[in-house]
Amino acid sequence: MSIVENPASPVEYLRVSAPAKINLHLEVLGLRPDGFHELAMVMQSIDLADLLEMRKTQDGVISLCCDDSTLSTDKDNLIIRAADLLRSRLGVKDLGVAIRLEKKIPIGAGLAGGSSDGAATLIGLNSLWNLKLTSIQLEKFAAELGSDMPFCLAGGTQLCFGRGERLEPINSDTSKVSMAILLVKDPSISVSTPWAYARCRELNASRYLKCENDFEHRRNELRKESWLNPLRASDPPSLRNDLQSVVASATPSVRNALKLLADLPGALSFGMSGSGPSCFALYSDYENALLDLESSRNIFENEGFQTWCCPLRFKGVMLYS
Ligand code: C5P
Repeated sequence: MSIVENPASPVEYLRVSAPAKINLHLEVLGLRPDGFHELAMVMQSIDLADLLEMRKTQDGVISLCCDDSTLSTDKDNLIIRAADLLRSRLGVKDLGVAIRLEKKIPIGAGLAGGSSDGAATLIGLNSLWNLKLTSIQLEKFAAELGSDMPFCLAGGTQLCFGRGERLEPINSDTSKVSMAILLVKDPSISVSTPWAYARCRELNASRYLKCENDFEHRRNELRKESWLNPLRASDPPSLRNDLQSVVASATPSVRNALKLLADLPGALSFGMSGSGPSCFALYSDYENALLDLESSRNIFENEGFQTWCCPLRFKGVMLYS
């Protein structure tokens, strides 16, 4: 399998890997005039990815099928919305695509699975339909579709400000970063992101920062955090997530996940990802994560959790020929 970043000539068929992300830091700074929250985040790709197979058609039809029948393949799916957006904006109405999605990232988990699938669709169709969009143009389309989607395009480790769409990549020496996570999620639970932010506002708005100067002060503090410069296991992130207490207080399975993760002997730190309900523990390397998973798998499964072990990943969406 060869990775094709920018295929030299248009292709008829592509496979695209769409990785999940976790939040190493999610800080709610305040409210924005558009009603969204002003955020200061560090997002990190992980090596748990959906796979999209995309075949170009000339019938003007955008179709999607998925191996997980619980996922909607209608117009609310970000894959369909991304394809529709490109087709209507770029006037390529005769072109179509048949997409098959192999779902590996848990749905409604706070891992940006839907956003990463949408980002993969933008990058895949840019090649398949020979649109020649630049990464800046792709980022703009991504930001129209969702706050997490611009990050998902290039992935890796990035500071994400604004709604989440203002990106500042962190260039760690990735050959020296071997950190991994143990990830857990109760398959019967999902959390609505709008609900989590609305509840956060109800509980915390009186403590929100009020002006751009204060926002920028916090952004600068985060930019200078020692754990980020560079990312390394010897000074691990403390994993702040301002949505965690909001979601945990209403979601027993998140409280239980955090309690079980706190007991893992080899973990560097632990927390919830995004608006949950998935939670993870961070490890210096994959072997240590696997050791803790093997000794605690039964405990997690008995409590109704699915488990994964995966290294951090320093690339976002990847095309394969
Ligand atoms: O942009 P996205 O569709 O992912 O956002 C989902 C919802 O999460 C928004 O409608 C909003 O209620 C909330 N949100 C927010 N502030 C952000 C990002 C999301 O309040 N920065």
